[in-house]
Amino acid sequence: MLWGGRFEGKLDPLAMQLNASLAVDKRLWDADIRGSVAWARALARAQVVSAGEAEELCAGLQKVWAEFNAGEFVFAPGDEDIHTAVERRLSEIAGAVGGKLHTGRSRNDQVATDFRLWMMEAIDQLLLRGVGLQAALVGKAESELETVLPGYTHTQRAQPILFSHWLMSHFWALQRDRERLAQTRQRASVMPLGSAALAGTGFAIDRQWLADSLGFAAASPNSHDAVADRDFAAELLFDCALIGSHLSRLADALILYSTAEFGFVEMSDAYSTGSSIMPQKKNPDMLELARGKAGTLIGLLTGLLAVMKGLPSAYDKDLQEDKAPVFAAFDTLAVLLPVVAGTVATMVVNRERMRAAVDASLLATEVADYLVRKGLPFRQAHGVVGKMVRRALERGIGIDDLIMGELREISGAFEEDVRDVFEAAKAVAARNVIGGAAPESVRDQIAAARSLLGSSK
Ligand code: ARG
Repeated sequence: MLWGGRFEGKLDPLAMQLNASLAVDKRLWDADIRGSVAWARALARAQVVSAGEAEELCAGLQKVWAEFNAGEFVFAPGDEDIHTAVERRLSEIAGAVGGKLHTGRSRNDQVATDFRLWMMEAIDQLLLRGVGLQAALVGKAESELETVLPGYTHTQRAQPILFSHWLMSHFWALQRDRERLAQTRQRASVMPLGSAALAGTGFAIDRQWLADSLGFAAASPNSHDAVADRDFAAELLFDCALIGSHLSRLADALILYSTAEFGFVEMSDAYSTGSSIMPQKKNPDMLELARGKAGTLIGLLTGLLAVMKGLPSAYDKDLQEDKAPVFAAFDTLAVLLPVVAGTVATMVVNRERMRAAVDASLLATEVADYLVRKGLPFRQAHGVVGKMVRRALERGIGIDDLIMGELREISGAFEEDVRDVFEAAKAVAARNVIGGAAPESVRDQIAAARSLLGSSK
């Protein structure tokens, strides 16, 4: 025990089990040892330990690091958390000098530092995996550049769009997710070390030097805040929950598109599973998991926010609950992002089925726009086309099957050239504004996307 001196009695075994966080925080070993190496050097710079002692501490820590790295580190029953375990082993290796490492430091600033260091690397990993999914979306968009399908609102056929446009819509959501992660990383890049328990270390530590040597952008400006807040962790959980939410929307649409009823896409065997009873089944489990994990990720965020709320002052042990949700969110997305990327990259697109779903009613807006060009105010044009749709429905035909006589009965503005309007490709091509669904516009999107991906590698 690091704190046994003032106690007479022993900790109850179950209390010890409850108190221990090693099972969760042992994965901070690398960050913990890096932090300690930098701290030992900072202590020497402040002449709290001699240069020789700092070297002994660093050499010992290097050995502990090597044991972890080789998977050979042996935990002791009394190791309460990763910080305790590393220090205990250091003292076994380096002897009495090991007892000098924790001078002027608390586990409160130590754990906050370790966690932030870990998080900065975790975010780099997530950014890379995000790029992987974005690249899969762009790749697919390029090969389906001119594939026309209905765009849906309210899950009802709305207007013809390009499948590439739909794919790219998910690209941009992920782009914002990556921007958010990068911003979260910036705010995480503030070093608590040197804050000690809550009031700041009592030794003349050069915190700027310490922050630089650990790769932090800055040293925390307030020691009390530095050990108290886990906003950086909540922020990462929000980012992950939102990524989950974005993935769930992509997944849900693909699940729908892969049904026999739609038949727009088919997932490759590599990302599908079968049924234990129905031999014919091919289930989109990976996409369903993407949809389901979003719920779990949202729960992890709300869980940590609930732990953080109302904590009275500086460090409270409640904060030990901070790591498990963040690790779980990271582990979830570290697998989910590449799986969704693989699913998208390998799915087979049925262009004919998509095209066949674009019936003439999807061009109703085009007819209204046509009437506007003939001089009708849009509201009136909308009403005219509404009547046209009703007439076609009554007769069980498409709006493009109404003959000129019928059309002119509804409005005198119709002329022979209305026939040209009933071409889905034209309707799509007309949307060549910035961000529109026209092939030209989608090509611009893809070029912009490619340069964003290129600059992020
Ligand atoms: N295991 C603890 C945690 O994860 C380390 C900090 C302990 N600090 C303390 N004052 N007991 O939060």
